Amino acid sequence: MKSIGILTSGGDCPGMNACIAAIVGCARQEGYKTVGVLKGFHGLIEGNAMELDERCVSGIAGRGGTILGTSRNGSLKAKLTSDNLALMFDRIGIDALIVLGGGGSISGAKAVADAGFPVIAIPCTIDNDIQGTDYTIGFDTACNHVIRAANDITDTAESLEERVFLIETLGGDTGHIALAGAYAISGDAALVPEVKYDLKYICNRIKVEMDAGKPYSMIVVAEGAGPAQDLARLIAELIGRRVRVTVLGHAQRGGSPTYWDRKISRKFGEMAVELLANGETAAMTAMLGSSFVEVPLSVPVGSKKPLDLETYNLVNKLSAESGRV
Ligand code: F6P
Repeated sequence: MKSIGILTSGGDCPGMNACIAAIVGCARQEGYKTVGVLKGFHGLIEGNAMELDERCVSGIAGRGGTILGTSRNGSLKAKLTSDNLALMFDRIGIDALIVLGGGGSISGAKAVADAGFPVIAIPCTIDNDIQGTDYTIGFDTACNHVIRAANDITDTAESLEERVFLIETLGGDTGHIALAGAYAISGDAALVPEVKYDLKYICNRIKVEMDAGKPYSMIVVAEGAGPAQDLARLIAELIGRRVRVTVLGHAQRGGSPTYWDRKISRKFGEMAVELLANGETAAMTAMLGSSFVEVPLSVPVGSKKPLDLETYNLVNKLSAESGRV
């Protein structure tokens, strides 16, 4: 193997650039050339790529997004056949590929591997919903957006009491960001799509707490359990207080990656190069507990990572039996 392609796909996230820089640095040290595929799998199919040297990645590690751009298009997978891939790899001069992205992108990586081409996937999504790894790049930075918003809202909440604040997070059809965010801010509830929640029960508990003197409440709502704007009306009726909504939206996907995201980006990037150098042809870099491991590509594409029910019950003040996934 002489040349490694790097492809970022799906939703961009903070840490992708740091990971690209780590791959380029490590690959050069190991004697490989690196080629950046532009605009995800679309770029691979179109032969849209450029050589990446250390000069190209200088200073990018602290920037959100991805200098390579991405694309979202599940139907492109059908074009990743063995014959097509041979032409694609040849045209841009690569022998192996490293794919950075979330669930859809990793299943694209698996299609490349199944067609017989060496590929390593690196889990990158703010959603942290990839099976087989405790952590996906971007999650920490996204959760810090929830914390910052809650801090800012607290200033007005402390001044003007008797209100309920809803913070809506991203996360697609998963609630990992909302739950982790709610836990970190000691929120009063986390509403997530994985759990059928009893809004009346939750609101009644919060009402009792506020009637007893709690000055304000904060509820974190995953977009998949919302929209928060619709829930606000119901919650206002049930708690009998003014409800205000903050939708964090795509701001959560941006910004400079935190220390943790930069650390994991570098580690996963270097690991991916080492794995290829050692002859691995179809794996995902992963973190299990505090260990860094590789897992077969069948693991992340098999199913979605379940929600941490223990934390869910803790945040929502439910007994172990009453939490339902
Ligand atoms: O990449 C994950 C994610 O940020 C989800 O949290 C969110 O639902 C989705 O992407 C939004 O993506 P898009 O901007 O493509 O609609």
